[in-house]
Amino acid sequence: MPEFDDKTAIVTGASGGIGEAAAKRFAAEGASVVVADLKVEEGEATVADIEDAGGEATFVETDVSDPADAGAMVDVAVDTYGGLDFAFNNAGIEGERAATSDQPVDNFERVIGVNLKGVFLGMRAEIPVMLDDGGGAVVNTSSIAGRLGFPEISPYVASKFGVIGLTKTAALEYSGEGVRVNAVCPGVIDTPMVQRSQDDDPEMMEQTAAATPIGRIGEPAEIGDAAVWLCSEDASFVTGEAMTIDGGYTS
Ligand code: NAI
Repeated sequence: MPEFDDKTAIVTGASGGIGEAAAKRFAAEGASVVVADLKVEEGEATVADIEDAGGEATFVETDVSDPADAGAMVDVAVDTYGGLDFAFNNAGIEGERAATSDQPVDNFERVIGVNLKGVFLGMRAEIPVMLDDGGGAVVNTSSIAGRLGFPEISPYVASKFGVIGLTKTAALEYSGEGVRVNAVCPGVIDTPMVQRSQDDDPEMMEQTAAATPIGRIGEPAEIGDAAVWLCSEDASFVTGEAMTIDGGYTS
């Protein structure tokens, strides 16, 4: 390494949390990174950190649930860096907490729109460019909530099960043409998303750590590094995989 010199990666949700950590690791490995997120100031800070460390990155304001934005984010990769090799479709929201029969319909649609339709729209825009460039790798962010049910977040759980379905299907469709497609299924990771849930449930992080064989919750880089590994040549025979990274929580 750096293994990714002359490669380009898109990372969605890269203004904070797991996406920010992944964007920084892609850049440290030599990739030029398109930082795609709704949050402008934080996204520009991710770019500045990458540049300060000697890397290359560009921010593009993106709502992953909007087909036009998904296309525009890929256009930025092509226009700025000449192509696209890797995509980490990671942006996601948890949505409102309520039992299924109390879930507002608009909350269900919003969560599915970002977490599931956002991954679909991302792949739909990214994969044709990768095919034209002779191959690539996609990683989508699911969750341990794509493996198990969790009370009061049924839209989130449904979206994350769906991400695994999209991932496995795209892997069947494109692996033979040089585009590998995988997912990561993080356990509880110390990001702004989880810090917000902690406000509703102050014991949550401590209880999760206690229920985790490794004895703590995860760090954003522990997911970002796995996403980067799945894009690397070391993972050249890995496709259609949903990799659980949870300190043993679901074991
Ligand atoms: P976060 O809330 O810290 O960061 C998510 C980023 O996505 C934010 O920068 C936000 O602005 C961006 N985003 C939200 N909606 C967007 C949209 N429509 N278009 C573009 N960007 C948008 O969350 P975190 O924890 O880093 O989560 C990243 C991914 O990991 C999500 O898909 C989440 O569901 C998943 N995940 C997180 C876990 C955790 O414990 N933190 C556990 C399992 C999965």
